Amino acid sequence: MRFEIVTLFPELFDGLRTGLLGKAQEAGVIDIQAITPREFTSDRHRTVDDAPYGGGSGMVLMPGPIVETLDHLDEARGGKPTHRLLLTPQGARFSQAHARRFSELDSLTLVCGRYEGFDERIRGLVDEEVSLGDFVLLGGEAAALAVIEATARLLPGVLGNEESAADESHADGLLEYPQYTRPEEFRGERVPDILRSGNHAAIARWRRKESLRRTLERRPDLLETAALTDEDHKLLDEIRAER
Ligand code: ADE
Repeated sequence: MRFEIVTLFPELFDGLRTGLLGKAQEAGVIDIQAITPREFTSDRHRTVDDAPYGGGSGMVLMPGPIVETLDHLDEARGGKPTHRLLLTPQGARFSQAHARRFSELDSLTLVCGRYEGFDERIRGLVDEEVSLGDFVLLGGEAAALAVIEATARLLPGVLGNEESAADESHADGLLEYPQYTRPEEFRGERVPDILRSGNHAAIARWRRKESLRRTLERRPDLLETAALTDEDHKLLDEIRAER
């Protein structure tokens, strides 16, 4: 899968060359290209922004260099389609469902807003707007990094173990169960006996129950949309009776 990032700060994405995403690039599973609209300006100062019409503080990203960049990317892709995302606090809140949907694409183009804003006509150039959450960043870059990481790790061959993406928090609409490793006892806290019992059915039931308990305690809103079985409802009744 191809990730294209339109940003004034392509060097912010250099970090993607390390770790699992670096390996995935070396293996050709993903390709990440960060490109700056400054390359597509014609004036001496490589201007990408200007003062807002109507006055006010701050500078606004101009649409021209962004269009030129998107056109260049289209050409480099050989005209193959992409899905264009704008990262902005006004977008829909990014979720695992977005990551799942994006991981089905051949190409995702992420356009990062920057400074105090961008010309409204840039909105017309993208397919979708996404926000990382209800807070304001300096620009869309950190949000783009999060979208790339959440999406890429769902692609076959990026995580070592295919199962790890299936089991974790949010994969099935619930938070993940607690995990333990050695030592068996740490500062007086013991690993639950059942995890050392070797009884795989009992362990699976315990994990499902703890996953439900965590979700009920921390994110009860998720239970409203999670796909719950009859057995899950029984476990939830047990948990409520225990409280
Ligand atoms: N740009 C600035 N703030 C942002 C946010 N919360 N999400 C996505 N892009 C942003």
